[in-house]
Parts: sequence; C-alpha cells; structure tokens
Amino acid sequence: MDKRPIGIFDSGLGGLTVADAVMAALPGESVVYFGDTARCPYGPRPRDDVRGFVLQIGEWLSRHDVKMIVVACNTGTAAGLKAARRTFTIPVIGVIEPGARAAVTATRNRRVGVIGTVGTIESGAYSTAVRAIDAGVTVYSIATPRFVDLVEAGLHMDSGALEDWFADASDVFIRPAFYEMARDYLDPLKRNGVDTLVLGCTHFPLLSTAIGQVMGSDVHLISSAEETARQVAGSLRARGQLSDEGVRPAHVFATTGDPDEFARFGSRVLRRPIVSATHVSIAELEALEVPDRSTADEEDVACG
Ligand code: DGL
Repeated sequence: MDKRPIGIFDSGLGGLTVADAVMAALPGESVVYFGDTARCPYGPRPRDDVRGFVLQIGEWLSRHDVKMIVVACNTGTAAGLKAARRTFTIPVIGVIEPGARAAVTATRNRRVGVIGTVGTIESGAYSTAVRAIDAGVTVYSIATPRFVDLVEAGLHMDSGALEDWFADASDVFIRPAFYEMARDYLDPLKRNGVDTLVLGCTHFPLLSTAIGQVMGSDVHLISSAEETARQVAGSLRARGQLSDEGVRPAHVFATTGDPDEFARFGSRVLRRPIVSATHVSIAELEALEVPDRSTADEEDVACG
C-alpha cells in the first residue's frame, strides 16, 4: 500500500478530464493536479519548449512526493514523455499510448481518425503508437486547434457542465459556430471512412457529445482520459502501490494562472468542487534545477 498522491498535469484545465477519470476509477487515491494555465496553449509551441515545461512540472510534482506522474496532455506527452521517463525515478504515464491501444481494439475496418493540437498531430505520435501496436491499421490525423479555443471560451462564458451547455444552450453564437467548424474539420475523416475517432487532446472529451453528433453514431469515440485512468490503475496495482480504498483522499490543485479562476472553471471540468488552488509562479518553475538527460535519440517521438 502506498498513500502518496498521484501527480497529474496539463497545460491547463483539459487534464482535469483525466483527473476526473482517475478519481472515478480509484476513489481512494489522492491527486496533486498542476495546471500550467499561464502558458496554455502548448499546442502551437515549439516541441523543445514544451519538453522543458514537462520536465519543470515533473520536477515540481516529484518534490511534492507523488508516487507517479501522469502527463495528462497529449502535446506534453508527444514532446516530453521520453525525457520525463529518463529524468524521474518514479513511473511516468502519458495519454497517447492508452488512446492508441483503445483505438486499435475498437476499430473494425482498421481505419482510425485522430484529432489533436498542431503539436500532437505534427509529432506523428499517434501514428507511431498505433503502428507499434498493429501496423495494419491506417491512421488519418487532423489538427483541430480551434476546439481548444472553444472549450476555453465556453468555460469562461457560462456556468454548469460544459457538455450540457454545448448540447442545450447558446443557440445564438457558440453552438452553430461549433457545428460549422466541426464539419470543416471532421468531414475529411468521415470521407476516409474512419469507424473510430481518438479525441487526442484532453480538452476534447468536453465536446464529445457534439463531436459524436457530427461524426455519426456508428463512429466509436475514444477518450484518452478513461483509457489513461485504466492504465494508471493497472500500473499501481501491479506495483502494489494502490492506496487503501477506505482512505479519504485529499486532493491538491496548483496553477500558474489565477487560482480563483482555476478553482471556478476547474470545478466545471472536474465535476466536483475545487475549493481552492495554489498559485505557482513561472519563475518558481524555471528556478527548479531539472537535470535534462535527453540525448540525440530523444528526437524520436515519444508514444506512451
Ligand atoms: N490539453 C492539451 C492536450 O492534450 C491541449 C491544450 C493545449 O494546446 O495546451 O494536448
């Protein structure tokens, strides 16, 4: 048994979809969640910068005595998972391999679509991960960065669960704009006949109802959040590191952005109250000495 918390981080609020899934799968586990809101989005940034952020936050979490680090950001996973695994002695889990594995299991016609940020899609990490599992599956990828903007805008503009809001309200602006944008992004994937679509960004499960409506009910949507939670549970179980189920968990939240905003908007993503969040400055992160053990072979795309 290991009562230490699980460290989970993302560029901002999207990784709370993974935290939500981890908390649901493992109710006895405590979580330290770090949202790098001040530097969000990671998607358009150079890969080396994102890798540096991953190492800084991994170091911050390590110093908070976590037993595992979950990179709950596809962009961060694609850019920095390998470096993080090389740098930290505790296990580091990414969100790409679990999503790729679930997609390979789900597809019947062996045509899989992936949507994500520019950083994730340009890295080719999903294609690499899917090929490593089953070279006979073809991956069709499209960057959909405006979905991230839309989730962020939606979180800042209303209250209640974001899924409900997209489904029921906002006829005037967001909803029609979303469907037009979604059709533009997703039609090429539909034309390629994918029967499975990976939501390759931790913001996207918040749009899954609407994305599902555009793709059609015969297309299977894969959320990396649930698959990652399964992998976290399996990995802790295999190491004998699960906490006692009877223990009442204590969750901690930290952000580089405004802590009150983080708590307010984060509660909507997490679907449970975040009473408070701690502010961590970028200067504090940058001051952490992170031993970058990357070598030339780090240029290979991480796919875990
Ligand atoms: N949540 C990030 C991911 O999964 C996307 C948001 C960003 O661009 O920072 O890739």
